[in-house]
Amino acid sequence: MYNKESNIQDQWKAVDTYIEERFTPQDEALQHTFQTSVAEGMPGGTVSPNQGHFLSLLVLLSKTRRILEVGTLGGYSSLWLARELPEDGYMLTLDKDPKHVSVARANIAHAGLSHKIEVRLGDACDTMAQLAQEQVEPFDMIFIDPDIKTIYTELLEHSIRLTRPGSVIIADNAIRRGMILDPDNHEESVTGIRDFNTALAAHPKLSATLLQTVGAKGWDGIAMAVVRE
Ligand code: DHB
Ligand code: MG
Repeated sequence: MYNKESNIQDQWKAVDTYIEERFTPQDEALQHTFQTSVAEGMPGGTVSPNQGHFLSLLVLLSKTRRILEVGTLGGYSSLWLARELPEDGYMLTLDKDPKHVSVARANIAHAGLSHKIEVRLGDACDTMAQLAQEQVEPFDMIFIDPDIKTIYTELLEHSIRLTRPGSVIIADNAIRRGMILDPDNHEESVTGIRDFNTALAAHPKLSATLLQTVGAKGWDGIAMAVVRE
């Protein structure tokens, strides 16, 4: 509950709830997926409802037809991303954990979206290298959000090969409570993001920025880039 005296995290959470109540109705499939993700021990990495809704608006805005997601967990963000795909749209989501893959497949089937969303088990870098070799049709949007943050920079390079000018690349967890600014922080999850942000900013093929965010999940941010001509 919001009150002026409550701590800042509680205030961010209260405002997130305010937004959620007004703008982010969750259907049964989303609720079911969120609940099973939490029950299976994946609450930390799952996007919040408002973040998921924001991702779905980006799909709509960019008229995306083909999405690649790295880091499926229970499929909660996958459902949000896929809901604004056109009828003939396609989404491929990658996860290296067999349990995540089976939970996500069940949730996606439960949502009636198995015809649109393919969940593939395996190392994301290997899978993306293989997709590039197969010269698959470029993806319009790539959402980078694996548990392991050390591979972000490598995933960015693979993403460049799997997109076209105008494609959108989004990465979660770009700010990490500001820890990216602390030169004494050498945690892998922080250094991985710091290196990624540096690579993103300097990339000649991208126009990019970071958006810092607060909410139910605390203080973090998303990286956004558009592939240039
Ligand atoms: C955490 C949050 C995330 O969004 C993620 O992708 C991984 C971990 C976390 O808060 O620990
Ligand atoms: Mg994340």
